[in-house]
Amino acid sequence: MTHRILILGGTTEARQLAGKLARREDFSVTLSLAGRTESPIAQGVPVRAGGFGGAAGLAAYLGQEHIHLLIDATHPYAARISANAAEAARQAGAPILALRRPGWETVAGDRWTLVDNVAEAVRALGAASRRVFLAIGRQEAGAFEAAPQHSYLIRSVDPVEPKLTVPDALYLLARGPFPEADERALLEKHGINAVVSKNSGGDATYGKIAAARALGIEVIMVRRPPLPDVPSAETVEALVANIDHFFEPVAERGV
Ligand SMILES: NC(=O)c1ccc[n+]([C@@H]2O[C@H](COP(=O)([O-])OP(=O)(O)OC[C@H]3O[C@@H](n4cnc5c(N)ncnc54)[C@H](OP(=O)(O)O)[C@@H]3O)[C@@H](O)[C@H]2O)c1
Repeated sequence: MTHRILILGGTTEARQLAGKLARREDFSVTLSLAGRTESPIAQGVPVRAGGFGGAAGLAAYLGQEHIHLLIDATHPYAARISANAAEAARQAGAPILALRRPGWETVAGDRWTLVDNVAEAVRALGAASRRVFLAIGRQEAGAFEAAPQHSYLIRSVDPVEPKLTVPDALYLLARGPFPEADERALLEKHGINAVVSKNSGGDATYGKIAAARALGIEVIMVRRPPLPDVPSAETVEALVANIDHFFEPVAERGV
């Protein structure tokens, strides 16, 4: 029997997971992207793009496409789609597994200021002018228009449009991974004295955190949003093992 799997993606792990599962003859895999990134890198599996129309729309899709397993491998800050996924799985009676990359923890030498959201990050920069490295993605960069006294270096995968109305902003287009040495050189070159980051976890974007530590620079760290409680794994490998276990005939599971 072919098992039909829908992966909600938009992350490196989702792409890796899709690649691994695509090699399996017993799986038929579709990767779903929000459709925001202009040129998604080739995924190696069929891709569908664009929203489903909330939890009800996703539940309808699961039914129409006869999906046997929904995998939420979205970014830890993509809270709405994760909530929709949990609700849609419940409505459609489809099983769900999530890939939940663990967040970074502070180590000696880190100077983190924890905030709950991007608006708080703006306030945490303070009144005095600073040189800020914004590495939170393009979607929420606009919030920093509320603090035009700072100079900004803004890095994103796709261009920030429209540009911020602040007088001093420099835009950098790049896709990770970003090694620590390169991040350190970037922070030094631009005289950065505050980094604004999400707690994405993983290695690909940790370089800026390590570089900030080495240079004694403050990191304004936006805490993760709450996510629904669904069965989850922390790595692609662990998730693949869970999937295999999930599709084993009941007799072989020893239950
Ligand atoms: N937020 C971040 O920092 C971040 C960072 C890196 C990558 N990403 C990726 O970028 C995408 C959008 O993130 P976001 O924070 O804007 O999400 P979000 O706020 O949780 O979701 C907003 C809406 O976008 C649609 N959507 C999101 N992910 C989708 C997917 N994989 N397939 C189909 N529709 C999807 C859904 O629309 P409908 O309700 O119409 O279905 C959802 O309600 C996600 O795929 C995420 O993994 C986000």
